[in-house]
Amino acid sequence: MRKKVTVVGAGNVGANCALRIASKELADVVLVDVVEGVPQGKGLDLLQSGPVEGYDVSVIGSNDYEPTANSDIVVITAGFPRKPGMSRDDLLMANYEIVKTATEQAVKYSPNSILILVTNPLDAMCWTAYQVSKFSKNRVIGMAGVLDTARFRTFLAMELGVSVENITALVLGGHGDTMVPLTRFTSVSGIPVSELIPKDRLDQIVQRTRDGGAEIVKYLKTGSAYYAPSAATVEMVESILKDKKKVLPCAAYLEGEYGYRDLFVGVPVKLGALGIEKIYEVQLTAEEKAMLDKSAAAVRELINTIQQKTAS
Ligand code: NAI
Ligand code: 2OP
Repeated sequence: MRKKVTVVGAGNVGANCALRIASKELADVVLVDVVEGVPQGKGLDLLQSGPVEGYDVSVIGSNDYEPTANSDIVVITAGFPRKPGMSRDDLLMANYEIVKTATEQAVKYSPNSILILVTNPLDAMCWTAYQVSKFSKNRVIGMAGVLDTARFRTFLAMELGVSVENITALVLGGHGDTMVPLTRFTSVSGIPVSELIPKDRLDQIVQRTRDGGAEIVKYLKTGSAYYAPSAATVEMVESILKDKKKVLPCAAYLEGEYGYRDLFVGVPVKLGALGIEKIYEVQLTAEEKAMLDKSAAAVRELINTIQQKTAS
């Protein structure tokens, strides 16, 4: 029997996730959105690409969750994207309500699924879905690190004129301006990147990575990136559905790892059939830990805001 993936939010990221999942024949896809007709129309359009692209999976769209029943994975992209001048955090309470409702509905119909969160502000939305779903921590995962790392790898490959495939990099922390690209764990076919790029130039590339989302928002003006975000999300979907056990930076619920509790922060994890099968704790220098502390504090602040605003 084929696997089943629900994608909530049939906008730019959601529709591209559906396209990539279908193109790779990973699973049947159900697209859910609140806008009448949009998920149905995009679903049918994607289905009609099958004969040309050569995939046989089913893709359907819906405004309710009944067709999503028994999904293996639910990807939540529903919510507002950033506009120029907005930070990811400006989206907090509006997207909190959307993610809360989407999670309630998703878990009602797919109680054994794994949730992958994409909606921003990412780490706070993961925490929301974790609280609402009451799923075990291995089954609530956030997509950000794979995207941020892909941006870092792209900029490094551009700088060195080498294949992106040869760049291995690690970006930790929250998906925000305080994310922590770790140059010490970044290499080109095993050669430490610090031996190939002078420190001041490397610092500029790190900063461009931190600003990677904003750079695209500035160009697009009416929304944020979606090709690389959907590619990153589907790498996670594939690792879970095929039990590939890829080690990827993802937002994970921490219970003491790296010194944090009751918080989602981007850390290296093993992704397999059970979701997060292991969290890797790497030894950080004092400087790296200080940067990660700052990033975790920014996530904590958002969670505190949610808790204050929803306290009754
Ligand atoms: P979009 O505006 O193109 O699509 C969002 C979709 O969500 C719309 O079709 C809208 O109708 C739908 N929606 C709104 N409320 C809903 C609800 N209650 N139930 C179901 N669907 C609902 O936005 P885009 O570009 O697809 O981005 C989606 C989210 O993903 C944003 O919050 C954005 O900031 C975030 N994002 C996160 C990234 C990450 O690295 N974690 C990367 C890129 C985007
Ligand atoms: C990005 O990094 C907006 O979070 C989104 O492109």
